Amino acid sequence: MGSRSLALSRWVLIVAFLVVGLAGETCNAKDESTKCTSSCGNIHNISYPFRLKHDPKHCGNVKYTLFCENDNTLVDVPSSGRYYVQAINYHNQTVRLVDPGLQSNNCSSMPRNFLPGLRFPYSIVNTRGSPLSTPIFYIMCSNPVNSSLYVETAPCLNTSATSLVQQKTYSYVKAGAMVVGDLNRGCSVEYASALLNYSKDYMPSYKSIHSALMYGFELRVYWPYEKCPGQWTSNSKCFPRTILGT
Ligand SMILES: *[C@@H]1O[C@H](CO)[C@@H](O)[C@H](O)[C@H]1NC(C)=O
Ligand SMILES: *[C@@H]1O[C@H](CO)[C@@H](O)[C@H](O)[C@H]1NC(C)=O
Ligand SMILES: *[C@@H]1O[C@H](CO)[C@@H](O)[C@H](O)[C@H]1NC(C)=O
Ligand SMILES: *[C@@H]1O[C@H](CO)[C@@H](O)[C@H](O)[C@H]1NC(C)=O
Ligand SMILES: *[C@@H]1O[C@H](CO)[C@@H](O)[C@H](O)[C@H]1NC(C)=O
Ligand SMILES: *[C@@H]1O[C@H](CO)[C@@H](O)[C@H](O)[C@H]1NC(C)=O
Repeated sequence: MGSRSLALSRWVLIVAFLVVGLAGETCNAKDESTKCTSSCGNIHNISYPFRLKHDPKHCGNVKYTLFCENDNTLVDVPSSGRYYVQAINYHNQTVRLVDPGLQSNNCSSMPRNFLPGLRFPYSIVNTRGSPLSTPIFYIMCSNPVNSSLYVETAPCLNTSATSLVQQKTYSYVKAGAMVVGDLNRGCSVEYASALLNYSKDYMPSYKSIHSALMYGFELRVYWPYEKCPGQWTSNSKCFPRTILGT
């Protein structure tokens, strides 16, 4: 009886030690995850929450895994696709990305991915809901369009290369948000991408829009603790800002 209870208490001690040990381990791992800095090509400061795919497991957060291929840093943006990372700004919580379909000095090259939206942890709008980058729409029309909103893509992009619809042979881009009236009769949006710091000065040349695309566009990055992008968090629940009147 006595030896049995001794064995039991020893067992309890061992379990307690294991639990404390494990708790210490997780704490340690969390601290360690912020201590790694990796580098790939021009991106020298890859640190928490970002990590490179082949970094030690304790580095960064898996939701923020980047890939390093031929000195290019790549990121998978949920519901959009894979992009080149041009810059990471930890202070502003932004990344600047370029579509891998685009080639510099070749305005015939097209973006490959569709416009990203808001899928944790990346968002095209900031916490106040304003877009960080100007969207650009690729439009095909069955008739020529004479509109100050439309920029002709010829001779960079020829219809045969871009349109799936044979009858639509006139190709344009429009920068900025699309509202119902912006789409002329006989026109359809084939594609949408995003570009940074678009200015009216680029008009009316598609070449200059293409070089703006090469500079890339910015996405807001939500850090792991920001569980409810653009909303208030309280006791792990999310509340729209409007409820609190902000
Ligand atoms: C790299 O990023 C870390 C964490 O965000 C920051 O503390 C550090 O100052 C940065 N270093 C450089 C050289 O930018
Ligand atoms: C990013 O942060 C820098 C300062 O580090 C600031 O000058 C700049 O305006 C910020 N940009 C945005 C888009 O918030
Ligand atoms: C330019 O891009 C187009 C479309 O991707 C491609 O067909 C063409 O070969 C490229 N030209 C050069 C010189 O790389
Ligand atoms: C396009 O419209 C402008 C004014 O709205 C006009 O001056 C110009 O001649 C038109 N161009 C063509 C090709 O129809
Ligand atoms: C598009 O057509 C123009 C003129 O027809 C030609 O000069 C140009 O090389 C073509 N571009 C592509 C990418 O096929
Ligand atoms: C966008 O803005 C940055 C910083 O102000 C500037 O360096 C860059 O040349 C601009 N890009 C374009 C395509 O205008």
